[in-house]
Amino acid sequence: MSTTLSAVSAPSEHRTDVLDVAALRRDFPALHQTVHGKPLIYLDNAATSQTPLAVIDAMRKFYLEDCANVHRGVHELSQRATDDYERARTAVQKFIGAAEPEEIIYTRGTTDALNLVAHSFGRPQVQAGDEVIISTLEHHSNIVPWQILCDERGAKLRVIPINDAGELLMDEYAGLLNDRTRIVAVNQVSNALGTINPVRQIIAMAHERGIPVLLDGAQAVPHMKVDVQELDCDFYAFSGHKMFGPTGIGILYGKRELLEKMPPYQGGGDMIKSVTFEKTTYNDLPYKFEAGTPNIAGAIGLGAAIEYLNQIGMDRIAGYEKHLLDYATEAVSAVDGIRLIGTAREKASVLSFIVDGVHPHDIGTILDREGVAVRAGHHCAQPVMDRFGVTATTRASLAFYNTEQEVDAFVAAVRKVKELFG
Ligand SMILES: Cc1ncc(COP(=O)(O)O)c(C=O)c1O
Repeated sequence: MSTTLSAVSAPSEHRTDVLDVAALRRDFPALHQTVHGKPLIYLDNAATSQTPLAVIDAMRKFYLEDCANVHRGVHELSQRATDDYERARTAVQKFIGAAEPEEIIYTRGTTDALNLVAHSFGRPQVQAGDEVIISTLEHHSNIVPWQILCDERGAKLRVIPINDAGELLMDEYAGLLNDRTRIVAVNQVSNALGTINPVRQIIAMAHERGIPVLLDGAQAVPHMKVDVQELDCDFYAFSGHKMFGPTGIGILYGKRELLEKMPPYQGGGDMIKSVTFEKTTYNDLPYKFEAGTPNIAGAIGLGAAIEYLNQIGMDRIAGYEKHLLDYATEAVSAVDGIRLIGTAREKASVLSFIVDGVHPHDIGTILDREGVAVRAGHHCAQPVMDRFGVTATTRASLAFYNTEQEVDAFVAAVRKVKELFG
């Protein structure tokens, strides 16, 4: 762990928007480079965030010193690898407030976690005529697995609509809940618009009818404190690479009582207690859902990312980012001919916009020449684009290491785009 975190302003200041960003930025080597001769301004954090040295060092240590398989060897290296792998699981458990480490399942990412639930929870539970509720705001990875399930089962996918600001219409949601609803699966924060959804209310309303709720937390965990027990969600999914951890690792949290009842997702090593050709007995949680050699270095890196975030403090990250998002929203809105897509009252991290007469891909390309990395496209959320009558937007997405100066440079680059296109 690098030492720069000690430079973060003391919590006793009672301000949540104060971070020593300059010091924190030194933990991220990738931020200190030029792109096309310009200093990099990385505003594509919703796609993948940058990685601090603490994470790189933890993974490097695994490969340099401890590289061995987990849960299998009696030898020292395997023991060390297993200890670090399981320690990371406990770090994840505490980070999201889960009751026990057995409720934390390593996956390849959010997509893998969502598919796991659609498969192992969905297949036994969802029958012909049943219903699954998602929302207009979902990433494709929280749409397609449910579509596949519903097609297979003859079930119906119901979709909570949104208003022009990009907020869920809660009255419509209330009207969708019924005795045939088997699960509600929604994101906590929209990746395309940044809307923070009223997930407590969504969960409470579903639970009144005994319906479980899955939250896709991919865009929430990097930006705010999450407590799955306080939320009372039944499943929670997220990815390491969007929260300053490595790619190829993610988490599915599930309440023990649900996970116990679910059949395995995949078969293979580690997920069994005993195998004969006549009968296989499955391993206990969480291993029942972790077939094959896992992403050991990824899990250890994720644990290091969590430790890093804990040292900064998620509440302070949220406070700082709120300030930065307000600043960026005001600055972007001041540019003539820009339309913000997604103006919810509660938002995190994301500024999606279109510029009159300029295709988002052209904006993205020109911004890249200015050193500014943004995302242009449908953001794997085509139904959101359809709802707003556009095919794509340009999306700038912030992290705690971004600064007002970077926002200023980004807005200046957007103005340049406007000048170029006259
Ligand atoms: C809200 C949301 N859900 C799911 C995903 C999919 O995550 P991954 O590609 O890491 O599986 C993303 C990625 O952008 C996302 O933003």
